[in-house]
Parts: sequence; C-alpha cells; structure tokens
Amino acid sequence: MSRFWSPFVRDLEPYVPGEQPKMARLVKLNTNEHPLGPSARVIEAIRAAADDRLRLYPDPDATELKDAIATYYGVDTGQVFVGNGSDEVLAHIFFGLFKQDRPLLFPDITYSFYKVYCGLYDIDYRPVPLNDDLAIDPADYSAPNGGIIFPNPNAPTGRPLALDAIETILQGNPDSVVVVDEAYVDFGGDTAIALVNRYPNLLVTQTLSKSRALAGVRIGFAVGDAALIEGLERIKNSFNSYPLDRLAIAAGKAAFEDDDWFQRGRELVIEERETLRRALEGLGFEVLPSAANFLFCRHPGHAGADLAAGLREQGIIVRHFGKPARIQDHLRITVGRPDQNQELVQALEGLV
Ligand SMILES: Cc1ncc(COP(=O)(O)O)c(C=O)c1O
Repeated sequence: MSRFWSPFVRDLEPYVPGEQPKMARLVKLNTNEHPLGPSARVIEAIRAAADDRLRLYPDPDATELKDAIATYYGVDTGQVFVGNGSDEVLAHIFFGLFKQDRPLLFPDITYSFYKVYCGLYDIDYRPVPLNDDLAIDPADYSAPNGGIIFPNPNAPTGRPLALDAIETILQGNPDSVVVVDEAYVDFGGDTAIALVNRYPNLLVTQTLSKSRALAGVRIGFAVGDAALIEGLERIKNSFNSYPLDRLAIAAGKAAFEDDDWFQRGRELVIEERETLRRALEGLGFEVLPSAANFLFCRHPGHAGADLAAGLREQGIIVRHFGKPARIQDHLRITVGRPDQNQELVQALEGLV
C-alpha cells in the first residue's frame, strides 16, 4: 500500500496464477501445461530469429504469424488478432468490447481471470450458475446483457459445449458480443472458428500455451469479424504496439506449420487423459467428462484440501481451488507424461 497509488489500485483483487515452484524434482500437474516440449521446428525457428535483427523492433502487426493462423483456419488475416498470451487478448476484449451499460454474463464457476478484468476495467458482471452437473446451459444466457464470455471446454470443469449449443447462445444474443475462450479446445472440443463468418457478434480466442506447448513464449489470438478485430487493434495500439517480440512471432508461425507434431501431441494427451480417468475412477474418484488436458474430480471419502496437501508432501502439485462451496473438494489435475500420471496414481493409492 502506498499513498502514491492511483486510488482504484487499492481495491483491485489481482488474479493468483497457479504456482511455478522452483523445486527440482516435482510432478507439476497444476497449470495445464503440455507434457511434451514444443515442436523441434519451433525451437529451430527461435534459434534462427535470434541474431542481429534483435536490435530492431518487431513487426507491430505480427503479420507473418497472423497469416499462418489465418491460413490454418481458412479465414482472412484481417479476422485475426494476436497478443502476448490469450490473457492479454482477453484483457483487450474486456476493455474494448465489454465495457457496456448492461452486465457481462459468464459462468459462476469458470476462469477466474474474467472477474479480475471486470475489477480492473470497472465492468459490471453477473455470474450465471452452472447447472447441477456443473455444465453450461445455453438457456441461462438469455437475460439482457452487455456481452457473454465462457471457455469451451469450460475451466476448471473440462466440460465441452457442442457447437449447436453455442449457436443457440449466439442466436439469442444478436446484439451482444459472445466470446468463446478456446484455451483447451484442441484436446477434444469443436472450434467455433467454423462459425465466425456467420455470426458478426462471435469472437473466438485461443492460446499456444496449451496444445502447442508454448506457455513460456506467450502467444494468444482471437478470430472473428474484421470489425471486432479492428476494435481490438485500436485498444492494442493505445496500450503496447509490440506485444509479440521477434522470437515469439517466429515461434508461433513455426508452431502452425508443424501439424504432425501438433496432432501427435494432442493424441498423446487425449490417450493419457482417458488412461488417467480410468485409474482415478478405479480409486473411487468421481471424474467429470473432460475434453481438455486436465481432469476435474473429487473423492467422496476425502476432502480436496487433504488430498492436495498429501500429494504436495510427495512432490506432486495439483490445483485445489477450495471455493465456491460446490467445488470445495474438487481437484483439477493436469494430464502429465505417462510416468508422471503413474506417480500421481500411486501416490493417491496411499491417500484414499
Ligand atoms: C480458460 C483459460 N483462458 C485463457 C488462459 C490464458 O492462457 P494464456 O495467457 O497462457 O494464453 C488460460 C490459462 O490457463 C485459461 O485456463
């Protein structure tokens, strides 16, 4: 606290990221990173870009990366926005599109950064409760609103929403921007990018942090109607003209060009997720259906806090949110490498 702060800073409630511990031997299953290292072509592209040119500012439009994304998804480059992680893309969306007279709607159990952006940008919001199965019900998104956002699959539940359910929300809200945050879509969901040319109020965000194993580089993007993208560019160019550096632009472009690595990576994660699900269910856990690279589960006989603490004592870190009450006993477990998942299951065998 300092008397020099702008007055609103005192009341901010910043996001608390999953911890990044420094311990050497650790099974880190708490922040949904990819179990493999990125594509060798990405590393090569970063090396090739690390030369004298680093004295020059990067392309403020990151056009090579936007072109690669546009080609991959079959849209125009003018329909693509890129930023320093999808968190930054989301921040610009909240400021540039969601600061409206009516409240923003998002699920009560979802990515906790949404609430933080509302606090930062003074945006009114209304949490919409998930149904009894911890799923999003499209019928609940018909109240008057100044925008709608939800992850698909949702986080931390992992539950996917079908494209026709997303269309129901879009059709019921033609005068609001609907943002689908697809941070985890590559692990089993259907991307709503297929719908952007039919719905000018749809914006889809994705990240290279999860399915392309580049959390350490920070690249996120949005795809939607060119007019929505233009609004985001206005915000970005009033904030930081160069959010992606030369290495990130090269890395992102190479990531979209190595589809073999991408497909093998997601297949491994999906297979391991199902193996881990069966093992957890064998230990008595209730596991929600997941289309993400994590499982959201609880054990009827054990408090979530105790299980998380017991795992931590053995050097295994998972995410325990503790609130709201409906998920106080749930653990969110990132799908790791096969050996890490086995270590987790062995540790849980001793705890339940
Ligand atoms: C639902 C969701 N959206 C967005 C993000 C942000 O991802 P990044 O900023 O790494 O692109 C995350 C990160 O965990 C997430 O879970």
